Formats: sequence, C-alpha cells, structure tokens
Amino acid sequence: MELATIRDVSRHAGQSVRIGCWLHNKRSSGKIQFLQLRDGTGFIQGVVVKSEVPEDVWEAAVKLTQESSLYITGTVREDTRSQSGFELNVTGIETIQIAVDYPITPKEHGVDYLMDHRHLWLRSPRQRAIMVVRSHIIRAVQHYLDENGFYLVDPPILTPSSCEGTTNLFHTKYFDEDAYLTQSGQLYMEAAAMALGKVYSFGPTFRAEKSKTRRHLIEFWMIEPEMAFVDHEQNLVVQEQFVSYVVQYVLKHCRKELETLGRDVSRLENVQAPFPRITYDEAIRRLQESGHEIAWGEDFGAPHETEIANQFDKPVFITHYPASFKAFYMKPDPTRPEVVLCADMIAPEGYGEIIGGSQRIDDPQLMQERFAEHELGEDAYRWYLDLRRYGTVPHSGFGLGLERTVAWICGLEHVRETIPFPRLLNRLYP
Ligand code: 4AD
Ligand code: MG
Repeated sequence: MELATIRDVSRHAGQSVRIGCWLHNKRSSGKIQFLQLRDGTGFIQGVVVKSEVPEDVWEAAVKLTQESSLYITGTVREDTRSQSGFELNVTGIETIQIAVDYPITPKEHGVDYLMDHRHLWLRSPRQRAIMVVRSHIIRAVQHYLDENGFYLVDPPILTPSSCEGTTNLFHTKYFDEDAYLTQSGQLYMEAAAMALGKVYSFGPTFRAEKSKTRRHLIEFWMIEPEMAFVDHEQNLVVQEQFVSYVVQYVLKHCRKELETLGRDVSRLENVQAPFPRITYDEAIRRLQESGHEIAWGEDFGAPHETEIANQFDKPVFITHYPASFKAFYMKPDPTRPEVVLCADMIAPEGYGEIIGGSQRIDDPQLMQERFAEHELGEDAYRWYLDLRRYGTVPHSGFGLGLERTVAWICGLEHVRETIPFPRLLNRLYP
C-alpha cells in the first residue's frame, strides 16, 4: 500500500491509508487509546478501540512510547473537533522502533537543555511551525525576486577582504594566505549587477560578534539584491514591495503554523507598501522628545529602534545616517555629504533592523579616499575599484536578514529559534 501523508488525508476521507510516522503523545482510557501522530507534514489523532482491533494491534499501541517510529494503517474519518479536521480509525500498527527514554518530555525544559537537544527539539510542533514558516519566507523571497527580473548569483564564502568593518571578521588560513568568512555578499553582487543588471544572493554570512542579544547570530542567512541604475529612493520602493509580498505570502500559506505559534496576525495583515520614512535627524528628535539620551552622531541601539518602531504600525525606514559610523561604500548625500544615502528598515513590535541598504559610491576618486580613511588595503579591493573605473553607474542594494525576518513574522522572543542549528556566542553544538 502506497504511503499517504497527514497533510493529504482530506483526499482520502472514508478510505484506508498507511502513513509513516512517529508517536508524539498518547492518552488512554483503558478501552481506547488516542495516539497523537506526526509525520512532518502535520499532526493527526489515531484512535485505537480495543473491541474493534486484533489483540496484537492493541498490544502494539500499548507499547508505543514518545517518538517511537511506526507505520500506521487506518480509515480516515472526518472530525470537526480536531485541528486537521480528520481522525484515523486505526486498524494496523507496524512498529519500526520503540524509542526508549526520549530526552524531551512534555514537561518544561530550560533553554540550554533544549538547545543541547536541538536535533530532537526540532520535532516539536512549535519548532516545526517555525521551520515551515522559514521555508515559506525563502520561497516568497525567491518568487518575488525571480518574477521581478532578478538573477540569482552566488558570491564566495571565503574572501580576502571585509565588507562590514574589520572588527567582527572570522579569520582562517587559506593555504599560505589569510582569508575571512564572508560578512556579506554585497561587494560581489555589485560586480554581478554590472554584468547582469538586477541580481541577488542568498547565502550564509558570518560575524564574529561578541554581542549576546536576542537579535544576533554568529552565522545567519542574508538575501542581498543589488541593482544597476537604481538610486536611493527607488531602492526603498523595491524594499517595501518586497517585504510586503513576503509577509502576505506567509499569511496566505502558513495560517496553521502561525496559529500554532500564537501569532497575532492582525499586525501582519497591515504590512502593505508604502512604509513610512523618517530621516536619522528626525529619529534623533523623536528619541529625545520621548526621553532618550542620545545626541546627533550616535548610532542606535535596540531600545532606540524599538522606540521608533512603536511610533508606527508598519515597518519604518530610517534614512540618511551620518557617514561617520556607516559602511565605507555608502554614497554621501550630494546636498549634505556628512550623511549617506542609506536606509535601515526597522520591523514593528520591537524586532529591530531587518534590512540595511544604500546607494553605493560610484565615483572612483571618492572610493579610493574611503579606502584610505577606513584603512582598507587597496590590494584586496583593486577589483572593487575596477567597477568604478570601467563603466561606473549609479547603483543600490540591500540585505535582508532572514532570521530576524523569521523572528518578526513568527513573533519569537529570540533569533535562536529561527534557524535549524543556531551558532551563538557560546554555542557550536549540535
Ligand atoms: O546592516 P548589515 O550589516 O548590511 C550588510 O551586510 C550590507 N552589506 C547588506 C547589503 O546592502 N547588501 O546587515 C543586513 C541585515 C541586517 O539588517 C540584519 O537583518 C541582518 O542582516 N544581520 C544579522 N542578523 C542576525 N545576526 C546578526 N549578527 C546580524 N547582523 C546583521
Ligand atoms: Mg545594519
């Protein structure tokens, strides 16, 4: 008999199916056993009635423990009380393995314990829901960009130079040379944009950040679109349409998962372009008015971002930051060179910066001056300067942090749950 999946049981109402699954949980009333089964595609309750099944099937059900693996056979019955809308009237059980002493019991466990058992914790309904949403976010990202004329281009992971400052680089030897794990594919995407027009990368990036916050991972995944002949203003329009699409796509396809996570979806339904824009100057003014001690020229921390976010009901762009603490490649505002043509997109509800982006410097002279100011060895960046020497054009791009986006859309306290195997300051296992 061909295997069915829990996701598709609705197509088999009234019929007999066989499903490969695990026992998630079990309740018994002496004469009936209620098996909570999961197969990765969903959850369903299997009902074993002692008076209706052969003795060996009843005994097999009695012996099943949490996370035991099995093939189950049963008749699909509509049941409006259950989450899936269906139940399984069990007729047969083939046990694959009885799991002994599964380490994650339905009782409460501490975060460190769960993190040590991340390889098993992923099986829980909540963690599964997060991974399903993550997968749909990636799907939406690729749909949007592929449908809007972007080509996917893969940047290298091992690089000779830094993109986002030299303080948090992961160093490694590359035979006799020094190499670093990439912090961002951007510089390579700029080269690709000069070859293909509109491009994006999607891959892992690394920051040896000593910060232990609920928004920072050491290894995280970034989506980095880069566009030739696109200026700062046009860059923002792409970003707000892109993010709106992703959020609405998840709302459409992941209702059940968002429900499992207890997410208030009304806050997400509102995420439709256009998004509000304020300058860094205005953000400083708003922060000072609401009692924060911050002066012009200082960067924002999490409490500042949250304060600004709480003043809006959609993601908000903060634009035109001081050049002094932003990346070397950002183009100065021609009318006011002390600020740059950049924007951070701050997610609502305190989830912080999900996008950093900017128009890039296109003038070779200015680019060279920036290398000197930022003490970036020109040798490693010679190729990057070439992009400004041979047919330079105005161009812009941005980076969307996948895990912060997952945290926001799922409504999670901490980014450690947004990635299958998080790399954190004190965690490399499992
Ligand atoms: O603002 P960032 O550093 O920008 C760049 O890397 C640019 N080169 C992107 C570009 O223009 N192509 O990072 C972009 C985003 C942030 O907004 C945040 O969402 C995420 O990446 N991010 C992190 N996410 C998790 N953990 C960290 N340590 C992160 N650092 C950045
Ligand atoms: Mg940033």
